[in-house]
Amino acid sequence: MKDIILKKFAEVFGDADGAKAYFAPGRVNLIGEHTDYNGGHVFPCALTIGTYGAARRRDDNRLRFYSMNFEKLGVIESTLEDLVPSEEARWTNYPKGVMWAFGEKGMKVPFGMDLLLNGNIPNGSGLSSSASVEVLTGFILRDFFGFDVSNQELALIGQFSENNFNKVNCGIMDQFAIAMGKKDHAIFLDTADLSFEYAPMVLEGAKIVIASSNKKRGLGDSKYNERRSECETALAELQKVTQISTLGDLDEEAFEKYQSAIEDDIRRKRARHAVYENQRTVRAVDALKANDVKLFGQLMNASHVSLRDDYEVTGLELDTLVEEAWKVPGVIGSRMTGAGFGGCTVSIVKDEAIDGFIEKVGSAYRERIGYDADFYVVEIGDGPRAL
Ligand code: GLA
Repeated sequence: MKDIILKKFAEVFGDADGAKAYFAPGRVNLIGEHTDYNGGHVFPCALTIGTYGAARRRDDNRLRFYSMNFEKLGVIESTLEDLVPSEEARWTNYPKGVMWAFGEKGMKVPFGMDLLLNGNIPNGSGLSSSASVEVLTGFILRDFFGFDVSNQELALIGQFSENNFNKVNCGIMDQFAIAMGKKDHAIFLDTADLSFEYAPMVLEGAKIVIASSNKKRGLGDSKYNERRSECETALAELQKVTQISTLGDLDEEAFEKYQSAIEDDIRRKRARHAVYENQRTVRAVDALKANDVKLFGQLMNASHVSLRDDYEVTGLELDTLVEEAWKVPGVIGSRMTGAGFGGCTVSIVKDEAIDGFIEKVGSAYRERIGYDADFYVVEIGDGPRAL
């Protein structure tokens, strides 16, 4: 891939003198969904698929962007003095947002760059192509200008840019999983204080299979922000009767005791999901440590049910993929992953059952939904790096 992007860079920008190649992964979340803005736990991992980038420092303030995933847009030009979101070339809002965020954090980007990207994560699939571009950009800026920031800070800068430049109120999970990725490990992260632990993903005889619904998220961003504010209101209601700072502070028992303080049924369901999902995530990681992959899978299934019934972020496409997966012998667990409203599911499938899984779930999906899903058998990879 390095050769491909440097060759294309030369084609697009005249030559590739002084250009360097980089990579940042995508991520998949195994369990702990919609908990990261509720002070709960998440359990994502970085993938070996992600975003490749070729970049060259300039000695003026110009920015030239090109994406091999959006070739029709051609070269998009801007300057460091003009870091405002674009309506037409929306993908450039991710690198631009990160440049802007560095400035906001007191690290003004001194010179422009030529940047070419080529991602092999399906766009809008819920595998965090946007967070991957954010972390990649931060990594390149650190490499070019020597900013003194750790990978964890790169994650926080990425989230800051997504929240404030792109106006999506996301939590820290995606950027953290990408910036801190470790081969063959998932990251057990407590989003309340960012303490974390790497857990080896030993799935002897099984693999992680991602199914993309090919349904674009569409209105997902506004629905996402709506869920977030429902949880904030529910928290404020609970705080009238118990001393907590996030929904993640409650266990199931405490939730049942105080839940009547939430004045609306819908908000109560949202909060219930956040509390139960957090507890489920802690239990799932314990199960994995005890080598109980079966229980891990059952908790994944329960996570999907809660996202479907209480959080209501699944929809026909994701439910079809998951419910068909549950029927296939050899599927250890299956659930939607990411924000929902379209995007992907994640399943743990025994090696010998993978072909049948793809065939059965794929044909049931086509029949019910009218178009194809795509399947990826994925591997857990490392975080961002120069190539
Ligand atoms: C998106 C957000 C994350 C997280 C998930 C849901 O991926 O970017 O911060 O909230 O949705 O778990």
